[in-house]
This record gives sequence, C-alpha cells and structure tokens, in this order.
Amino acid sequence: MKKTILVTGGTGYIGSHTVIALQEQGYNVIIVDNLSNSEEEVIYNIEKITHILPVFEKIDLVDEQACEALFNNYAIDAVIHFAAYKYVNESVNEPLRYYKNNFHSILNVLTEMQKHQIKNLVFSSSCTVYGTPDSLPVTENSPIKKAMSPYGNTKQVIEEVLEDCCKANNNLFVTSLRYFNPIGAHPSLKIGEVAKGIPPNLLPYLTQTVIGKREYLSVFGNDYDTPDGTCIRDYIHVSDLADAHVCAIQRMIEKNTISNYEVFNVGTGIGYSVLDIVHTFEKVNNLKVNYQIKGRREGDIAKIWADTRKANELLKWKAKYSLEDMLKTSWEWEKVMANKK
Ligand code: UD1
Repeated sequence: MKKTILVTGGTGYIGSHTVIALQEQGYNVIIVDNLSNSEEEVIYNIEKITHILPVFEKIDLVDEQACEALFNNYAIDAVIHFAAYKYVNESVNEPLRYYKNNFHSILNVLTEMQKHQIKNLVFSSSCTVYGTPDSLPVTENSPIKKAMSPYGNTKQVIEEVLEDCCKANNNLFVTSLRYFNPIGAHPSLKIGEVAKGIPPNLLPYLTQTVIGKREYLSVFGNDYDTPDGTCIRDYIHVSDLADAHVCAIQRMIEKNTISNYEVFNVGTGIGYSVLDIVHTFEKVNNLKVNYQIKGRREGDIAKIWADTRKANELLKWKAKYSLEDMLKTSWEWEKVMANKK
C-alpha cells in the first residue's frame, strides 16, 4: 500500500522539490504550509510536472489546535519537516521570532506524532551546526561548534531535542539531514527558488544582478585563507538534495536504520569559491556578472565542504548534478520568473 508522507513547508524551495521526488517514487504526499515564504501556485506547478495534485493544507504549525486537527484528519506514515524560518541575518535581528516559530512548530509536530504513533521523521538541519570546522571535509562526527546565529542555534537545539525524543521512545526514528548550500531549479523549470525581497544568498542575488534587478553582486571578502581569497562552500543541486529525503524515508520505512537517531551530511563533497561560482556561471551561460569585491560579511566562515561517504553508503544516495547544471538551471529559472511578471 502507498505510504503517506506529510511534508511541512512543502511549497518552499527544498520542500517542493522533495514533494516531486516523493510522488515520483510512488508516495502519497500531503503538504502543509503557512505560505509565509511561498505561494499556493507551487502545488499546481508540481501537478504540471508529476500529474498529481498534492493535498494541500494552509496551516501554521505554531498553532497547536490547527496542528492537532491536521494529524486527526489524515493517516500519516512519516513526516518530513521543512517548515522553518531560514535567514541567518534576519534571525540575528529577530531572534525571538525565529525561536518561537522554529521551536513551536517542531514541538507541535513531535507531540502529534507521538499521539498518533507516527514513527518516522526527517528533519532539515544544516551544515551551519559545524560552525568554523577544525578540519575539512566535515564528517558527521566533526564537533558541533557554538552556533553563529539564532537560526543556526535552532538547528542545533532541535537536533538535540530529536535525539532526546529518540532515546526516550524506541518506536521513534529520526533522520537529520545536514544540508550544504542548495542552488539550482527543477530541470522542468516549473519550480525553483522564489526569493522574497532582497535575497541574502549568493545564487539568487547573482541571477537577479544579471537580469538587471540589482546593480552589482558584492563578493564578500577576498582575503580569506583560500586559493583565490573568497569563501568556499559545497553547492548542491536542490533536486539532488530532494532525492536524499526520499532515500532517508525509504531507509526508515524499510527499517534499515542502525540507530533511532541518525545524521547525514548532504552535499557533493566538492568546495567551490565565490569567484568559481561567478566565473563558471559566466562560462556556462555565456554572460558577464557585474561584481565588486567588498569587505567580509559578518558571521561567514572561510570554507566548508562535506564528507558525503556516510550518505553515499548508508542512504545509497549520491549527488548527480554538476556545478554547470546547477548554474544553468539557476539562470533559466530566473528568466522564467522575469517572464511571469
Ligand atoms: C547560510 C547558512 C546556511 C543556510 C543558508 C540559507 C551558515 C554557515 N550557512 O549559508 O546554513 O542554510 O545560509 O540561508 O550559516 N556571498 C557573496 N555575496 C552575496 C551573498 C553571498 O559573496 O551577495 C558569499 C558568502 O559570503 C558565502 C557564499 O557566498 O561565502 C554563500 O553565501 P550564502 O548563499 O548566503 O550561504 P551561506 O552563508 O553559506
């Protein structure tokens, strides 16, 4: 029988790509989202790709009663929890809003999962939990460093909460996926990242610069201890990241896990600098990026990339898309959005 997966934050950037990957693997999907950073239109775009309209509930999971009603209404086999605020800078300025939203929603979800004896949960964590790593690449055993932002702290604390819940309940299975830097858009170009306001992240800012919405891209610092002086990150295509969630769900449903609480890095294992991104983008899209070297951005670390062997071996997952594919789809998606307006 088809398993039903509740995807919280399922109209968001990573959530929507994961819904597609789940549907393509034969899962029933229920999306819950409060649309605080996405549009309902996404569910119809998902339908255009998979020919299946996902069930959609516009609910804020911070609302305990609404969350309770949701779990009473559906028979759910597993949950993938994306719904959270995600901007580092915003979290520094509005820590309470971040703590309230990100903590309350996961606590409400866990409470309902326990009530309804739902065993499987995938949580969106982040490589931000490693802070400034002592050595590279980072493995899942690399030390967790003091969080550099309230956003990062929510990821660290929620990971601890999940581990505690798994210790207390042998029937609960949780997988935390520590994402590196997701970029790109679905190859169909029907869904992608919709950045509201001025995007803080590199790729949407870069593509908005090239399309003429921004004057120039600031490259934050060229005096880091890296070959070209700019920061290095592990960029991963969002569809590859989405597939990792399906692998994690399959592993839990098939009861292949080694322990109740598991953590995986989800990246490509390759680090690229900001200037690598700019120049590869220029090359694959045959365009010029107007950029200026500026001072360092507060809170940025010099370099991080993932050791992905654990995910490769145990989740039987590997990133497939190249950097060129990521940067092509990012640009194609920016053009699609520009044509809509
Ligand atoms: C951060 C978080 C990550 C979070 C993500 C999404 C950390 C270590 N990482 O990633 O957990 O999921 O935000 O909000 O906290 N850059 C520029 N110019 C720009 C924008 C960025 O040069 O206009 C540079 C940055 O200095 C950085 C790289 O591009 O070196 C990537 O930045 P960004 O896309 O913001 O992601 P992270 O900060 O790595």
